[in-house]
Amino acid sequence: MRIVASLNAMQRLALRWKRAGTRVALVPTMGYLHEGHASLIRRARREAGPRGKVVVSLYVNPTQFAPTEDLSRYPRDFLRDRALCRRMGADALFFPSDAEMYPGRDQGRYSTYVVEEALTRPMEGASRPTHFRGVTTVVAKLFNLILPDISIFGAKDWQQAAVLRRMAADLNFHGRIVVSPTIRERDGLAMSSRNAYLTPAQRKQAICLWNAIREARRIIRSRGRSVPCSSLVRTLSRGIELNPEAKIDYLAFFDPETLVPATRVGVGTHFALAVRVGTTRLIDNARI
Ligand code: PAF
Repeated sequence: MRIVASLNAMQRLALRWKRAGTRVALVPTMGYLHEGHASLIRRARREAGPRGKVVVSLYVNPTQFAPTEDLSRYPRDFLRDRALCRRMGADALFFPSDAEMYPGRDQGRYSTYVVEEALTRPMEGASRPTHFRGVTTVVAKLFNLILPDISIFGAKDWQQAAVLRRMAADLNFHGRIVVSPTIRERDGLAMSSRNAYLTPAQRKQAICLWNAIREARRIIRSRGRSVPCSSLVRTLSRGIELNPEAKIDYLAFFDPETLVPATRVGVGTHFALAVRVGTTRLIDNARI
């Protein structure tokens, strides 16, 4: 597996692959990899085929963190990540620096961003107003540097995947976006690098997100699809608030592609929630 740190080297390698007709699958990550990422790399391997190449990018992107968020304490373990990528059969690990990704940013000399203006508004976008601008910008840069034929994103960040699909379509990026299922711990907690922040007591309470999803499904099964979403939100919130360290950010029912809020749960309606457990902000979602 090659470790590629420079943008120039990455772009040259990608162009060489392109000219040779090699299929390239990209797994963008911020590192501190876990079984959820491993499943994305596995999927990339399958999508790329035996002669294709799998690139994992490992970059904690500063522009998607607000100044008040956890950029400086975001968990990192390069050696462990490198070993996992190797084990999973990645062909290249792209590991760029801030200085190359955003040259002169601290001195105000970096000023180009990619902004999606509709799907980024609700949910994560309402709570973290500058977040998606950072995500779309860095992913657009990764697409330009790596020229992937397929890019794999996790379903845990459902809104992110919808935003990136829209960006890729609107800006005519070559390549397909694949969304791979959320991988869960044995008790149902969605795997996330941020789970590492939880104390043992908070870890127990963190299961409230998955419990809310299960409860939403149970209510729909027993009362039918005509239940108003506002009443579901009230009921589910009460369950979450029984956990002393849980603070709800949002609960939302919506169309899975347009993200337009639903008033009643129809076939395919999606449910997403964000809850702070202690100081750790967790998200989850599922089709209801
Ligand atoms: O989902 C993530 O880990 C990040 O938002 C991504 C897509 C790698 C961009 O930094």
